[in-house]
Amino acid sequence: MAREITTVGVVGLGTMGAGITEVFARNGLRVVAVEADAEGVARGRGHLEHSTDRAVRRGKLNEGEQRALLERISYSTSLSDLADVDFVVEAVPERTELKAKVFAELDKVCRPDAILASNTSSLSVTEIGVHTGRPGKVVGMHFFNPAPVLKLVEVVRTVVTEPDVVEDVVALAERLGKVPVVIGDRAGFIANALLFGYLNHAVRMYETHYATREDLDAAMRLGCGYPMGPLQLLDLIGLDTAYEILDTMYHQSRNRLHAPAPLLKQMITAGLLGRKTGRGFYTYDAPDSPTVVPDVHTPSDADESAPTPRQVQRVGVVGTGTMATGIVEVFAKAGYDVVVRARSDEKASAALGTVRRSLEKAVVKGKLDEAARDAALGRIQTTLRFDDLADCDLVVEAVAEELAVKKAVFETLDEVCKPGAVLATTTSSLPVIECAAATSRPGDVIGLHFFNPAPVMKLIEVVDTIATAPEASATAKAVCTSLGKHPVSCGDRAGFIVNALLFPYLNDAVRMLEAHYASAEDIDNAMKVGCGLPMGPFELLDVVGLDVSLAIQRTLYLEFREAGFAPAPLLEHLVTAGRLGRKTGKGFRDYT
Ligand SMILES: NC(=O)c1ccc[n+]([C@@H]2O[C@H](COP(=O)([O-])OP(=O)(O)OC[C@H]3O[C@@H](n4cnc5c(N)ncnc54)[C@H](O)[C@@H]3O)[C@@H](O)[C@H]2O)c1
Repeated sequence: MAREITTVGVVGLGTMGAGITEVFARNGLRVVAVEADAEGVARGRGHLEHSTDRAVRRGKLNEGEQRALLERISYSTSLSDLADVDFVVEAVPERTELKAKVFAELDKVCRPDAILASNTSSLSVTEIGVHTGRPGKVVGMHFFNPAPVLKLVEVVRTVVTEPDVVEDVVALAERLGKVPVVIGDRAGFIANALLFGYLNHAVRMYETHYATREDLDAAMRLGCGYPMGPLQLLDLIGLDTAYEILDTMYHQSRNRLHAPAPLLKQMITAGLLGRKTGRGFYTYDAPDSPTVVPDVHTPSDADESAPTPRQVQRVGVVGTGTMATGIVEVFAKAGYDVVVRARSDEKASAALGTVRRSLEKAVVKGKLDEAARDAALGRIQTTLRFDDLADCDLVVEAVAEELAVKKAVFETLDEVCKPGAVLATTTSSLPVIECAAATSRPGDVIGLHFFNPAPVMKLIEVVDTIATAPEASATAKAVCTSLGKHPVSCGDRAGFIVNALLFPYLNDAVRMLEAHYASAEDIDNAMKVGCGLPMGPFELLDVVGLDVSLAIQRTLYLEFREAGFAPAPLLEHLVTAGRLGRKTGKGFRDYT
């Protein structure tokens, strides 16, 4: 028969413990909350009061409910006050010795039938459990931050956890309105095992000055629809906790991608732990506050030494495919005169037709009026001759993703374009410097990586090569802003920001599936429900196309030679078998 759980203990009232306490109390359970000392209790209590005040202000709780919620919580500094609870969740710092000590004590004071759960993100639940006389009643109950908001709970079953204990914890999670997923005991479980490689990679990009913190975060929010950028998320998680998680994962996987970036250690030593100390990658107006305030790293518009952008009014677009037509539409709508260079009359009129239909759709949806549609169409002119791009101030190349083809285009642009024109490539994986080197004016060549569909996606990666002139870069960014887009700057390395951060994570998900740790369904759910991502990795891979994904992953591997970037064999096999995702009706899932 299922245990009746009415009173629970929470040990540690930090970032997670306070949130977990709130979740229990909000759902009618009595909570005995234990901290190390009186100061910890005061901090934890403050946390809970703040958080529930915020819920009242947002109309998610009324004052009576808040009072009742807070009255269900009692505070203590002694584990012996947990003698009568039915269930305990431990949320002390991520260190095995500390957790082992807490569990050994809990085992002594708690009733023999009480379940002891750890909220550990990465440590071995099995190892924690063996410090008790009841390893069968020890489980992982891994909540996500912020616990009151995110619905996923990973229930970690060790090889000795009793089946009814797992059932009871699943039932408890469901009672709390959470979505539980039961999995085995492996460092990082599902979500963190996939998330932390990505977070660590973002820290390394920041550490090596590949991109600014603002640009890294904006790239993942706007390019992938993530609720937060990686550095913002690390500040929320806490850098010390993140370090411990990565360190544990590294020791289990020996995957260099999990070896904590050196910068993390330096920041922790300097006391920059993230939001909880008021400073991490960003600076906050107070400890535990989500409000970012400007600091020395905040970009300023008032930089006097910044180069003046060149004037751009006439824009050339080379190509007639999906990206080219989207880009033509974006420029024409923003008031630029556009010259589209096509290889044949048929392609030119097809491209124009695509733009017309897309603008028409915008009119039907009420996003554009008819006059604006006609004006935009009136600004577009097509040609078969490169010579007609001679007086363009900016030319955007969006032809096939083949180096030889792109180089030939740049050679021609170099011959025909006026001096001072900015020449941009939309490549998503080829080196921009190759295009630059095909011209006699590499200073004017830049990458403008639009996202698909160009009229919708706000992000543009502006890629400077080692030769790009600051003025050309400033011009490209000013143009992006005038289009209503959000430009981010990065260097000329495979994958730029978004693909370099996204695809290794997708590849890791394939490896996890390959290792039979969890099903594609559970992995997709964990990433959506636990991390708030718009799509799970397998849904996304099937949409992008497995062949395209494999090609990007291969490019990343060849550029960086990171063993961890090597494409997962399962991905290769699916592509070989012609299972390319939605477009072939079969990928990681079947589509009808
Ligand atoms: N931060 C996250 O995003 C996140 C998410 C899920 C799980 N976790 C896991 O939750 C656990 C706690 O992490 P956190 O980020 O909340 O850490 P934290 O540093 O914010 O909080 C830990 C709290 O435990 C208290 N504490 C230390 N020793 C104690 C003891 N002996 N008895 C009682 N309290 C004690 C500390 O005073 C502190 O308030 C870790 O295992 C972590 O991996 C963290």
